[in-house]
Amino acid sequence: MNTITSYIENNKERFVNELIELLKIPSISADSAFKNDVLKTAEIIKVSLENAGCDAVEICKTDGYPIVYGEKIIDKNLPTVLVYGHYDVQPPDPLELWNSAPFEPIIEKTELHPEGAIFARGACDDKGQMYMHVKALEFMTSTHQLPCNVKFMIEGEEEVGSANLATFVKNNKEKLQNDVILISDTGMIAKDVPSITTGLRGLSYVEVEVTGPNRDLHSGLYGGAVANPINILSKMIASLHDENNHITIPGFYNKVENLSEEERAEMAKAPFNLDAYKKALDISDVYGEKGYTTNERNSIRPTLDVNGIWGGYTGEGAKTVIASKAYAKISMRLVPHQDWEEITQLFKTHFESIAPDAVKVKVTPHHGGQGYVTPIDSIGYKAASKAYKQTFGKTPIPQRSGGSIPIVSLFEKELKSKTILMGFGLDSDAIHSPNEHFGVWNYLKGIETIPYFYKYFTELKAK
Ligand code: BES
Ligand code: MN
Ligand code: MN
Repeated sequence: MNTITSYIENNKERFVNELIELLKIPSISADSAFKNDVLKTAEIIKVSLENAGCDAVEICKTDGYPIVYGEKIIDKNLPTVLVYGHYDVQPPDPLELWNSAPFEPIIEKTELHPEGAIFARGACDDKGQMYMHVKALEFMTSTHQLPCNVKFMIEGEEEVGSANLATFVKNNKEKLQNDVILISDTGMIAKDVPSITTGLRGLSYVEVEVTGPNRDLHSGLYGGAVANPINILSKMIASLHDENNHITIPGFYNKVENLSEEERAEMAKAPFNLDAYKKALDISDVYGEKGYTTNERNSIRPTLDVNGIWGGYTGEGAKTVIASKAYAKISMRLVPHQDWEEITQLFKTHFESIAPDAVKVKVTPHHGGQGYVTPIDSIGYKAASKAYKQTFGKTPIPQRSGGSIPIVSLFEKELKSKTILMGFGLDSDAIHSPNEHFGVWNYLKGIETIPYFYKYFTELKAK
């Protein structure tokens, strides 16, 4: 029988093994030492798309890592689904916190994944989730059940800001023309609580440098008499939040979308267990902006976080020194209507203004992007909802995520189509962390659900 469930039953070992092969290549886009591995991964994706039935697969050169593009056009009058994903991964460090090597995938059972989970960098974000789409396409083409046209666009620079993808999209609007964009690069609430991501936060990422004296100084001879850049930087960073954990940058909240009480009440219905949350992270309490719940703090509210801070002596033992420079990397997660370039400018102006005369401050923007919200009455959302209903037996809950995929708002602006975020990962899958993993059940459930999206989208579109 050519149903998706029997197809998966007959091919699941191969599906898992193919993903494991893909996960063995360290396609770390942030580190140029892995350039050849990133390029090799693009080649493998190309071959996998060809094997899955794409007609024209190209490796499109950019100023950075290439974009793998493939399509299967069966009838120009039928709708077109554009699948986006990324084949690059985050650096795996700190390596010593991994229980197995990040690029030597292993399958292990966990409490949440009794069927086993694949442990490797990129297992969930996003090689595993991206590859579900390749396997779903293989099923649809090989059993003659592809109901519409499909285009694939898989990039290699998502984890470093997608700068070259933006140019590619702007220059290839016709080629990329579609009726809906489908992405699996987010999560769901739980294995028995399917959800569709309806919002992503925007991002502004900056690096700051504080310079005091022109050289590192003896902390006894000079201590107390000149500004210590590390002390100053710490004070400046601390002042960016007030006692209610509101961000103090003037104008920061001006455009923040305020949800109505009804919308907040609706959000609060999503299942959430604070004790389990605290237990999973081994914390005795949560922490954040006054007046908001944990789920609001990490989705509909903007944030400012230090991602790294360094300077002075950090080696073994003690060295008495006042460093000349101190640094920090700071990210701000933004919500709809906040403009990331404007926020970056507000940060820069404010941060420079709070520095005492005794130091010099330099703010360097890295990358950023706009937030995104998608309506739940679009054909795409309805098709996704029906697909989950089919395979999970439950209607999925719409949920805004705290993460960012900055390119999504650009897709809407340039290609004029909505993005549907069908994520199958769990928060506990440890993306970007040591021991990243993806449940085999989740992987196969994704492959099972995706073809129904195509079916229902094509049906609803024809009405
Ligand atoms: N797939 C993630 C984003 C994500 C994960 C969104 C889970 C929602 C739920 C993506 O690969 C990512 O890590 N994005 C970065 C931003 C990027 C510009 C580096 C992020 O959110 O930090
Ligand atoms: Mn991702
Ligand atoms: Mn990521």
